[in-house]
Formats: sequence, structure tokens, C-alpha cells
Amino acid sequence: MVSTLVAQAPEATVLSDELRAAIDREIARFPEPRGALLAALRLVQDELGCIAPPTARAVAEIFGLHPAEVLEVLSFYNLFHTEPQGRHEVRVCTNLACSLRGARTLLRELEEHLGIRAGQTTPDGRVTLGHEECLGACGYAPMLRIGDRYHEELDGPAARALVDGLP
Ligand code: FES
Repeated sequence: MVSTLVAQAPEATVLSDELRAAIDREIARFPEPRGALLAALRLVQDELGCIAPPTARAVAEIFGLHPAEVLEVLSFYNLFHTEPQGRHEVRVCTNLACSLRGARTLLRELEEHLGIRAGQTTPDGRVTLGHEECLGACGYAPMLRIGDRYHEELDGPAARALVDGLP
């Protein structure tokens, strides 16, 4: 998968001067530039919405890495995206505690309700649905996060009401 993305990646994206300056500030905070890679990727994603392969190539050039190394980082952390996401990222935790309390059913209900599968975005670009590994809120299972906010002790109607309330 990573090697395919690297092979398909066209020329590197040109990052804005402001974004490049922000990345340089992060690099200056670490004894080794590579220590700033995650922070840099977060800055890039915040500005561009996702980190497509050409953008990963641009980041790799800044850090003196092979593009595959950056794409491996992107594929390891599910907070990074190589494709555009919906305005709202809804992620249902499907790890053990949440699954034991019905998270997989909850996810299926949301898939049906939104008319998409996990990993997809609604046609209007409003919601990207997905699953998530344990977020440390096991005592409040089942839970999901929308962006940076946790929503806990959910059932189907509560989860549907949450996504219906998203602008
Ligand atoms: Fe879902 Fe831990 S298993 S928050």
C-alpha cells in the first residue's frame, strides 16, 4: 500500500511560506529534526485538510526522508489522513470494552443511518465515519469521538441524534 502510494505520488506539493515557517519553528524545538515530524504533519493537515502523497513527498524533502517513511507514519497514526475528510470526523471505538458493550452494533447502526460504510464520507461532505482504537474511556463504553470531543455511554438513538445535530 505504502509503496503503491509512493510510486503514484507526483511532484511534491508546494507548501506555503507560512506553513514552511511554522514547520521550521517546530524543527528548531528538537535536537534532531525528525523529532518534529509528527508536529509538522499535524500543521500540514490542519492547513490542507489531509496529507496526500504529493504533500507527504514535500514533508519528506524538508526532513531529508524518503517519502515512504512519511507515508508509513501516516498509515500508522489514524489521526492523519491521506484523503480529504468530511467536515466532521465521527469515530466509534471498537476496542474490547466498547465492543463488549455494543460498539460494533452502534457502528453498524450509524453506517445504515448515514448510508455509508466505515471509512467513507457522506456525499455532502458532512461526516466521515470510522472506527477507533481504545481512547482510554473504557469505563464509559460504548463511546465515540467527534473531532476532539468524546461522547460516552451511547446507544443507537443517542449516537444518531449526535450525528444528526452536526452542522
Ligand atoms: Fe473503547 Fe477503551 S475500549 S475507550
